[in-house]
Amino acid sequence: MSEETSPVEYREPILSEQALAALQQIDPSTLGEMRAFRESFARFIMPYKFGIDEIITKVSILREEFALHENNPIEHISSRLKSAESIEQKIVRKGCEPSFDAIRESITDIAGVRIVCGFVSDVYRVFEMLTSQQDLRVLKIKDYISDPKPNGYKSLHAIVEVPVFLSEGTVAVPVEIQVRTVAMDFWASLEHKIYYKYDGDVPANLLRDLKNAADTAHDLDVTMENLHQQVRAQSASGSTDSTGGLAIAI
Ligand code: GTP
Ligand code: MG
Repeated sequence: MSEETSPVEYREPILSEQALAALQQIDPSTLGEMRAFRESFARFIMPYKFGIDEIITKVSILREEFALHENNPIEHISSRLKSAESIEQKIVRKGCEPSFDAIRESITDIAGVRIVCGFVSDVYRVFEMLTSQQDLRVLKIKDYISDPKPNGYKSLHAIVEVPVFLSEGTVAVPVEIQVRTVAMDFWASLEHKIYYKYDGDVPANLLRDLKNAADTAHDLDVTMENLHQQVRAQSASGSTDSTGGLAIAI
């Protein structure tokens, strides 16, 4: 579109008049430093985004391949990039030096991918398929399924390093992978909301009820796994259901 014909763009003012006036009080060198920091942060965070993209591609490949010959063990995938604010909080909590190099060294959950499966056996299967891929380097594994947290939290975690190919060369990016069942995920998301609502100081009765809910979620996982194995065994032996059709694989 030529300049003459392009419509005049109307843009909402991004800053209020008050904010604009305050900004004009800041001396130009400080503004320059703020801009430089914003640019450095964008450069720092970018490889983590690409690390997430690489892991999501790997999970999507497994998912599509599974869809060809059996029902998909992966219910859903989500990801998150840690915000500047929560990186800052973690630096303070860990007493880490506030430099990009130190953050890169000590904070390994800036990139996070969560995979939710139907059954506990699928959690381990998907985890193994992913972490055994040769271009990944497993830095740490935490199995909160076999060894749940005292509050009832369950999930299978790994910190892996994935190579990201940038124009200047390859960087190994740490990504935190969490794999859990639907029931574990349901519990964890409620617990997270309650934890934040009470700013970490959750009343004892709620903590007790949450622990009970974790036990119920565990019972459900055991029951569902049992059902799953029974149906698989029947499918493998080619047995038919009461309607005469082949038993569905779940
Ligand atoms: P963070 O500093 O919180 O990242 O913990 P960590 O480095 O000791 O690792 P850990 O494996 O304990 O936790 C990593 C992540 O798992 C957290 O950031 C949460 O996403 C999740 N997580 C761990 N514990 C809990 C919990 O008790 N409840 C919930 N809802 N999520 C948890
Ligand atoms: Mg974390």
